[in-house]
Amino acid sequence: IAPLRLGIAGLGTVGIGVVKIVQRHADLIAARSGRPIVITAVSARDRSKNRDADLSAYAWEDDPVALAQRGDVDVFVEVMGGHDGPAKAATEAAIAAGKDVVTANKALLAHHGQALAEAAEAHGRVIRFEAAVAGGIPVIKALTEGLAGNRISRVMGVMNGTCNYILTRMQAAGLPYETVFEEARQLGYLEADPNLDVGGIDAGHKLSLLAAIAFGTRVSFDKVELEGIGNVSIEDINLADDMGYHIKLLGVAQMSGRGLEQRMTPCLVPAESPLGQLQGGTNMVVLEGDSVGQIVLRGPGAGEGPTASAVMGDAIDLARGCRVPTFGIPAAQLAQPVAARAATP
Ligand code: NAP
Ligand code: HSE
Repeated sequence: IAPLRLGIAGLGTVGIGVVKIVQRHADLIAARSGRPIVITAVSARDRSKNRDADLSAYAWEDDPVALAQRGDVDVFVEVMGGHDGPAKAATEAAIAAGKDVVTANKALLAHHGQALAEAAEAHGRVIRFEAAVAGGIPVIKALTEGLAGNRISRVMGVMNGTCNYILTRMQAAGLPYETVFEEARQLGYLEADPNLDVGGIDAGHKLSLLAAIAFGTRVSFDKVELEGIGNVSIEDINLADDMGYHIKLLGVAQMSGRGLEQRMTPCLVPAESPLGQLQGGTNMVVLEGDSVGQIVLRGPGAGEGPTASAVMGDAIDLARGCRVPTFGIPAAQLAQPVAARAATP
C-alpha cells in the first residue's frame, strides 16, 4: 500500500513534535491508518540549526513553496505560523499543486480561511486544522463529526493557555499583571508578538474558527468583540475573589435571531465552577447542542506533544480517506453571518 507522504514546513515546537511522533509510532500509525505515513521533505529558515530530532532521511527545501509543490509530497503540513507571507503562499501553492493541507495556524485560517477552503474544494482538496484550536483537545473533530447531528446553540471557553496562566498566577500568588507577564515571557509562554496572547487576538482567531463550523457561517474574525487581559489588575482579581468569582479570558459564540454573537473578553466566572477552577495553560471548550446537551472538553491547549498529537490525528484521518470539508460543509454553502453585539456585557 502506498504510504501517505508528508512535507513539513516549519521545524519549531510543533514541527519537531510531529517528526518525533512519526518516528516513534510508525507501526501504530500504519496500523490505524491502513497505510504507512512517512515524511519525505522538510523546510525551515535555518538549515544549520541544531534540532531535537534526526532529520537526515528527509529532503530539505529552503523555500516552503517549493516544498509544497514537490511531487513526493501528498500532504503539506504548515507549522510555520503567520497569517500572510510564506504560510499563506505555501498553503496556496500546495492546494494549487493538488495537495491536502494540515495546519496548526489559526491566524492564517482566521484571516484567509474562506478563500483557502474555497480554493481547496475547487481542487478537490481538504484543509485540516485540529491543532489550530485548543492544541491537543480534539474540538474540531467533535464539532464536524461527533456532534454533526446537532444544531449547535453555543460554543464557549478558555482558548488561550498563556492568558489563563497569567490570570491564575495573579490570583494564586497575588502578583500584579506586569510581574506575571514577565514571568510568562521568561518561561517562553508568550507568542513572539505577546499582544496576540494578551490582546485576546489568538483566542479570538480560535473562537472565529469554531463559530464558523458550529453555525455554518463564513469565518468572521473581524466581527469578534475583542478585549484582552492587559487591563485586568490585581485589584480586579481580588475584588472578584471576594465576591466568589475568578476572572477568565472567556470566548462565547452564539447564534440568535439577532445574528451571530462572538466575543472574547475577560469575564467573571463562579470560582468553584469548572471554568473558574481551570489552572495554568489548560484550555476548556464547552459545546452545546440540541440533542446532546452540553459537552465539556478540557486539556492542554499548547506545547510540542499536544499540538503535534492534533496534527497527527489529522494526517491519520487523511490517510484513512476522510474528506470532511474544511469547515464541515462546503465552503460555498457557508452563510455570510449577520454580526450581533453581545446582549449583556
Ligand atoms: P516556532 O517554534 O516558532 O517554529 C516556527 C518554524 O517555522 C521554525 O522552524 C521556523 O524556522 C519556521 N519558519 C518560519 N518562517 C519560515 C519561512 N519563511 N520559511 C521556512 N520556515 C519558516 O512555532 P511553533 O510554536 O511550532 O508554531 C507553529 C504554528 O503552530 C503556528 O501557527 C502556531 O500558532 C501554531 N500553534 C502552536 C502551538 C504551540 O504550542 N507552539 C499550539 C497551537 C498552534 P527556523 O527554525 O529555521 O527559524
Ligand atoms: N499562545 C497560544 C496559547 C498557543 O497560549 O494558548 C497555543 O495556541
